[in-house]
Amino acid sequence: MEKIVVKGRKPLFGSVDISGMKNAALPIIFACVLVPGKCVIENIPNVRDVAISFEILRGMGAKIEKLAHNTYEIDCSDVVAGTSSCALVSKLRASYYLWGTEFGRFGFTKTGQPGGCNFADRPVDQHIKGFEALGGKVLSQTDCVEIHREGEATGANIYFDVVTVGGTVNVMLASVLSSGVTIIENAAREPHIVDLANFLNKCGARISGAGTEIIKVRGVKELRGCTHDIIPDMIEAGTFMIAAAATRGSVTVNNVIPKHMESLTAKLEEVGVKIEELDDSIKVDATNTKFRPTRIKTMPYPGFPTDMQPQMCVLLTQAEGESMITEGIYETRFRYIDDLARMGAQIKVDTRRAVISGGTDLTGADVTALDLRAGVAMVIAGLIAEGETAISNIYCIERGYDDLVGKLTGLGADVRHITVPDEEPVMQVECE
Ligand code: EPU
Repeated sequence: MEKIVVKGRKPLFGSVDISGMKNAALPIIFACVLVPGKCVIENIPNVRDVAISFEILRGMGAKIEKLAHNTYEIDCSDVVAGTSSCALVSKLRASYYLWGTEFGRFGFTKTGQPGGCNFADRPVDQHIKGFEALGGKVLSQTDCVEIHREGEATGANIYFDVVTVGGTVNVMLASVLSSGVTIIENAAREPHIVDLANFLNKCGARISGAGTEIIKVRGVKELRGCTHDIIPDMIEAGTFMIAAAATRGSVTVNNVIPKHMESLTAKLEEVGVKIEELDDSIKVDATNTKFRPTRIKTMPYPGFPTDMQPQMCVLLTQAEGESMITEGIYETRFRYIDDLARMGAQIKVDTRRAVISGGTDLTGADVTALDLRAGVAMVIAGLIAEGETAISNIYCIERGYDDLVGKLTGLGADVRHITVPDEEPVMQVECE
């Protein structure tokens, strides 16, 4: 069994370089299916979800070559729709972007059910509503997802009942090759939506409004290959900013787009952390800081991201007073609190709300990475705890963090990746 072992109480100092954004790289990698030619994608993070995506596409006939560190050439000219491995797509939530790309290029999609986390229910009704508006007929949604379109692709007006990143991506992918105009209302505004639109536009698409709540996709006949550089990962950047603050360290986080970090920066300043924004880096200084409590509600971008909620919760265990976190995206995302409580945190959870009584000393314990962000929050908890924290199920963390252990070690943390013999068959907790 693989574990990450952290010896706490060492402030982080120095600088760290942020990798390309996982949640931008995944839709762009799958978007290559729309292109009958070669795309060169730079700044692709070295994370497990990317490796699985490559494996899925190679199995469908794509040629993927590593050109340089983090740069890949992806050629989906010979991809055959409906041939993705069920076993592989079930390992990855983002594999549902194949619905949009297969439907968009070939007029039908047939894939296994996407995998992913169990931190909450993850309905796909808004995706389906989008495909139906675009002329799709859903033939199956049980073992596999099968959607067919009869005739030519035309545009549609789609209003999302909830702001959904995945739904917005899928409708963009499904409508980019068409003879009509598609309007997506109440669209997600995340930076990765803008990055996807930029990539597709370089390939010849005509998408406007990405980054606002109304996206207009004017259909085109064909796309061609391009070169694209993935944006920096704002969640990875935020994770290091919180880790630096929580350990009362001082760290410069390089290769970030400070604008993407505004909701976190504002909250960290409210809590008492000093933040200095430079062109493409942010300096976080919490040496000698007495953290103040705060209230946070997670919201779609530009609100405070749900993907930084567990990490922030760990920081707030160190604030003097009572903080409150309300989860505004998922019905529940607080499963990690039990582990945190075993480390000494005092937190009461009521479905969507956690009330954190701060100022508690944490003590190392054996804990589990229940999902990607909960897992990295446990690493941060380990960094501030007295003694040793061993985190298991680190598969979840490796899905989305590029060389977490190496980067933390570079900042002075005492953190190791170890392999221990299995005492009993290991139950891998499914995650995203
Ligand atoms: N929703 C519906 N119906 C739908 C789709 C979504 O009700 O058809 C609801 C969801 O249940 C949720 C809300 O809408 O309450 C937002 O879900 P969204 O579709 O935006 O999430 P997602 O696209 O499945 C992506 C990220 C997640 C991140 C969320 C929210 C990827 C691969 N995943 O998921 O990232 O939490 O957006 O920002 O981009 C992570 O990286 O750790 C992660 C979980």
